Amino acid sequence: MRIYIKGYVLILAVMVSVILHQPEVVTGQARVPAMFVLGDSLVDAGNNNFLQSIARANYLPYGIDLNSRPTGRFSNGLTFVDLLAQLLGLPPPPAFADPTTTGNKTLQGVNYASAAAGILDESGQHYGARFSLTQQMVNLETTLNRSRTLMNPKAYKDYLARSLVVLVFGSNDYINNYLMPNIYASSYRYGPPDFANMLINQYTCELMTLYSLGLRKIFIAGVGPLGCIPNLRAIGLAPPGRCIDGVNKILGTFNQGLRSLVDQLNKRSPGAIYVYGNTYNAIGDILNNPAAYGFSVVDKACCGLGRNQGLITCMPLQTPCVNRTQYFFWDAFHPTQTANSILARRAFYGSPSDAYPLNVQQMTFFR
Ligand SMILES: *[C@@H]1O[C@H](CO)[C@@H](O)[C@H](O)[C@H]1NC(C)=O
Ligand SMILES: *[C@@H]1O[C@H](CO)[C@@H](O)[C@H](O)[C@H]1NC(C)=O
Ligand SMILES: *[C@@H]1O[C@H](CO)[C@@H](O)[C@H](O)[C@H]1NC(C)=O
Repeated sequence: MRIYIKGYVLILAVMVSVILHQPEVVTGQARVPAMFVLGDSLVDAGNNNFLQSIARANYLPYGIDLNSRPTGRFSNGLTFVDLLAQLLGLPPPPAFADPTTTGNKTLQGVNYASAAAGILDESGQHYGARFSLTQQMVNLETTLNRSRTLMNPKAYKDYLARSLVVLVFGSNDYINNYLMPNIYASSYRYGPPDFANMLINQYTCELMTLYSLGLRKIFIAGVGPLGCIPNLRAIGLAPPGRCIDGVNKILGTFNQGLRSLVDQLNKRSPGAIYVYGNTYNAIGDILNNPAAYGFSVVDKACCGLGRNQGLITCMPLQTPCVNRTQYFFWDAFHPTQTANSILARRAFYGSPSDAYPLNVQQMTFFR
């Protein structure tokens, strides 16, 4: 509630300043020229539809609130990045793997995210093909190399510097790697802090590469409280209303590592702003005060089977819950559009406990 009110006041303030002082600014004009998205199923916009993967959401009831159009998004509607794009005045960035995402359709941004993808190449491999972080970086370069030919060098440099990059990674390195000891050996080889540090080291290389490509506004979402998702509540046999605290605990080093990483990167990257999106805090706050956000169900999925509707993910043509705006979780792993919308607003307007050191709106003004 608080967030909505704050956002409303800010929008009013911006509109007033536009009307009074900047008549040349067209209302509805995008705040950044482009938004590039790298990530996992939380933000996949349909890339896995074009890959040999069993991690796909190309069937109803996925997309039921997008005019009953399944797009490959793992939600009843839009994802966090679609809604963030909306706040920036941009269309939802189209999926890289979609053959119609060509030519100047890529100029306002592209979505490279792929369900089951992790920071580590091996994460999620039991689902089949996916674009890991490493491959998504190559795909991003492919787009940028093409865009460069459409602009003069000065315009291209300015375009990259003003564009926003959003990264959403880490969940699959835990749920589809570290926390799956029957398939992946990482938990035998590493204690939780060492594993987190390995993820951070790999991530650091890619984040520095973004800077060397010329990108300057980089938002990195941390990992949410995975011990609270319906799937882990179900397989961990959490008592009603409880999360699996042990799972949440092992994520701490990763999230703290990301937060201190943005401080380091900001010190050594002149002209750039790296931001840590504190997903853990934002989701934790909502799960602890569901009624304040209009949610009545935060421990069960809206669509799925078994304990907490979290044991088996939403099945083709399964009938989902009716009142979807009252559910935080759409399926065993992913939030509803309503939850995504609150998270997008917190990233855009939130305080440093949501987005550190700046929120997305402040990032757009950063020079
Ligand atoms: C994109 O390409 C189309 C067709 O060539 C052209 O009409 C349009 O103006 C272009 N848009 C931009 C933003 O360059
Ligand atoms: C992009 O262009 C650079 C410079 O020409 C080249 O080194 C790189 O291999 C290209 N990357 C891709 C993915 O095409
Ligand atoms: C909405 O969800 C709640 C919680 O599951 C349920 O008790 C209620 O009956 C639902 N209302 C409607 C109109 O479906």
